[in-house]
Amino acid sequence: MNKYILLIGLLGTGIFAHTQRLSQAQRDSIYQLTVADFEQMKEQLGISIPNRPGPSGDPSAPNAANSDESKVRSYDLPDPLRFDNGKPVQSSKEWWSKRRPEIVEHFDREIYGRVPKNVPSVTWQVLSEKDTTIGSWPIVEKRLKGVVDNSSYPDLSVEIELLIATPASATEKVPLVLEFGFINWPFGPRPDQSASILSSNEPGWKEQLISRGWGYAIIVPHSIQADNGAGLRAGIIGLTNQGKTRTPEQWGALRAWAWGASRAMDYFEVDDDIDAKRVAIEGLSRYGKAAAVTLAYDDRFSIGFIGSSGAGGLKILRRNFGESVENLASSGEYHWFCGNFIKYASTHTADDLPVDAHQLVALCAPRPVFISLGSPVVEGNWIDAKGNFLAGVHAGPVYELLGKKGLSNNSFPPLGTAMTEGDIAYRQHAGGHTTGPNWSTWIAWACRYWGDCGF
Ligand code: GCU
Repeated sequence: MNKYILLIGLLGTGIFAHTQRLSQAQRDSIYQLTVADFEQMKEQLGISIPNRPGPSGDPSAPNAANSDESKVRSYDLPDPLRFDNGKPVQSSKEWWSKRRPEIVEHFDREIYGRVPKNVPSVTWQVLSEKDTTIGSWPIVEKRLKGVVDNSSYPDLSVEIELLIATPASATEKVPLVLEFGFINWPFGPRPDQSASILSSNEPGWKEQLISRGWGYAIIVPHSIQADNGAGLRAGIIGLTNQGKTRTPEQWGALRAWAWGASRAMDYFEVDDDIDAKRVAIEGLSRYGKAAAVTLAYDDRFSIGFIGSSGAGGLKILRRNFGESVENLASSGEYHWFCGNFIKYASTHTADDLPVDAHQLVALCAPRPVFISLGSPVVEGNWIDAKGNFLAGVHAGPVYELLGKKGLSNNSFPPLGTAMTEGDIAYRQHAGGHTTGPNWSTWIAWACRYWGDCGF
């Protein structure tokens, strides 16, 4: 095994990137390998001009991202209910058979990338099972690993980390929320988050779910695919490519993480403790983007809880407010997407995208999706709470066509308003970059769909 493969192998499995603090030399190495991969992808695309730089997330910087509503340009959004040839979609049948596949094709080719046909299979192993507690609630906690078949390329291995917790008192299969997150905090010891509280009166999300009689699970994204460009020749993307670089249409990390969530769903379907018909996907920020992609692409997930996903998730990319395509398609974030996406920060612009974020919401229809944001004062404007709201607004007609209800109101609500009457729900809580304060609202809303609330 050469040194490069060894290094990217370690990156892919997260040993360097996630279980210890990185030395400066390791950081430099990741940076150099990332830039080299980014440049080779631009060469594959035949792009020789430099990318346009994205705005800064620092509001006091001279090139700060726009956070002024009056400076938002007007833009034209592609109509989810009009075919690419301009003809209107006239029935739900036309949506399912022709328009939805058209939209999927655009996301596949230009944004999130295609999952190659030869992705190896996963075998789940239960590593441990124990009776324990979360807060004051008894639970059964299982640790699993999903071992990916690497017989086609033994130099790389991928083992997906998964934790599943269900109420010890459960007498039948329970609904469950799958979160993209961490099982062990990556940077050494820290207090047990599982018992963490939001305030002295509100328990954390795990306790809230268990107290309802529901379960939770956590899947670790970097055990599927590293969160940097340097790792693209390792992880599930690299293993499938036998250690080679991607082609421009192949999947990026968001699609890879979503693929991992789908493999966890394969396991839920055969676990006697879990009602696989009632599994939600949840995540925050880049993991909120991954949660949106999971829900859009795998209809076995019945509900979504999409936390502050922002650009590349549920924020309208044509809207010049907060993070932009130029940030996403830079060497720091391009690995989330397919190589083709880099075009939109160089030879093309966001206005040339064949689809926008409202169509990602539309792909989730008719399944319920909750769009969660924090307060601009605490979370900042990078995420563009209104841009995420508008994705919900413009996906509404697809929900209506399928006999469901979009957002209950199309005007941007005051902070804290729970817009939960429809199958697209929205709430901007008063906290920062977290889904925390929205859990109780989400649970009350999900109860409508999952029926029993554990009582
Ligand atoms: C950066 C990035 C966002 C992302 C966020 C996160 O701010 O620009 O797109 O959502 O990191 O994942 O924390």
